Amino acid sequence: MGVTVIGSLNYDLVTYTDKVPGAGETFAGEHFETHVGGKGLNQAIAVSKLQADAGDEKVRIVGNVGRDPFGDEILEVARQNRVQVEHVGVVAGTKTGTATILVERKTGQNRIVIVSGANAKTVLEESNMEQVFPKNTSPGQHYIILQHEISDPVAYMRWLKLNRPAYQIVFNPSPFQELPADAWKDVDVLVVNEVEAFQLYMCITGSGSSKFSESEPDNMVDKFRVILSELMERGVLGKSRSGTIIVTLGEYGVLYASAASSRVLYVPAEQVVKVVDTTAAGDTFLGGLVAQLDSGSTLDDAVRFAVQASAIAVTREGASSSIPTHAEVEGKYHL
Ligand code: RIB
Ligand code: NA
Repeated sequence: MGVTVIGSLNYDLVTYTDKVPGAGETFAGEHFETHVGGKGLNQAIAVSKLQADAGDEKVRIVGNVGRDPFGDEILEVARQNRVQVEHVGVVAGTKTGTATILVERKTGQNRIVIVSGANAKTVLEESNMEQVFPKNTSPGQHYIILQHEISDPVAYMRWLKLNRPAYQIVFNPSPFQELPADAWKDVDVLVVNEVEAFQLYMCITGSGSSKFSESEPDNMVDKFRVILSELMERGVLGKSRSGTIIVTLGEYGVLYASAASSRVLYVPAEQVVKVVDTTAAGDTFLGGLVAQLDSGSTLDDAVRFAVQASAIAVTREGASSSIPTHAEVEGKYHL
């Protein structure tokens, strides 16, 4: 049992503002913060904080930072959160990955520009994989989590499926990129938000734009129910396997389906009084989900727990710093 994240580590430069400027405009923002982030590290920290036994050090991250103060701070925060960083390279001559983020005060919505920097140096090396995933260890239900903020997550998934088939691969294809249809078949648990679900649907069906182009909040859940059913029917994750697809719809809740039942299930979102900052809400969901699956929870219980955890994350500023602990989720923290 245990979790390995292969992914990005970013330094987030965040401006909280009432208004978002257009081209050529300048506004005074409200305040500025720096946070440790990156989808890979956020998800690793989320697994660590949201596992039932807070003392366990079951999570590690594989990735790269630059040899600079941002990288130093990132490694420090990762360690404080009990994420093992032995497999994080410190690369000279490249800057640590950054995310420049604008958060709108009124809605908590964000706009993010990332520069990969050292994350782009995270590429598969055979000898490294042999060392990180030794052959003769029995992995049990070891989970590997990947996102798309590193160069080629598909290469890792392929290597793992071919060489270590017992590992469970969780993929969050964010930011979305079109992949060869076969690549999705290496995924055991696919977690997408509404934008990514729609993009995947368009890639797989080669259509969809006219049928589903309008995002009408009223029928968000119905619309994505149809999209998810179609993705399952088409066997995106492979027809003969028991893959799971989860679609997170933010304030509209979560839809999910597994090949085993292929019925689409739904969990509504928690009511949140004041959304402060949605950054890392998706990462919190994913980390909560995997922490629960790793400790033997059913998929239904894991999804419900993850929904509660991400509802707390949106009430707090920042990325990894906004992720609640397991005790906070269980203690019914007031939203
Ligand atoms: O998912 C949130 C993350 O996306 C931020 O922490 C930022 O680094 C970007 O990668
Ligand atoms: Na947040």
